[in-house]
Amino acid sequence: MPFTIDGEPWYGRVGDSLLSAILAARSDLGPLAPDGRLRAGFCLIGLCQDCWVRLADGRRVRACTTELEAGMAVLLASDEAAW
Ligand code: FES
Repeated sequence: MPFTIDGEPWYGRVGDSLLSAILAARSDLGPLAPDGRLRAGFCLIGLCQDCWVRLADGRRVRACTTELEAGMAVLLASDEAAW
């Protein structure tokens, strides 16, 4: 199932969470404000709130509880990813 991370094409499996698809492609979700530590999710069950990401369509989603959809465009590195 195709999706992009900062414009770069990737493929995930049907049924993947967005978090598992992202972490299969790279090791982190980008820096955590304010100290810049790299996030990779923590609880994986929707409790810790460490996995929110921004999509190009303007949505902010919790990646561990969001199912990957074909064509999702995740923004992790750009200014658009800023909260
Ligand atoms: S990893 Fe904890 S809420 Fe998603």
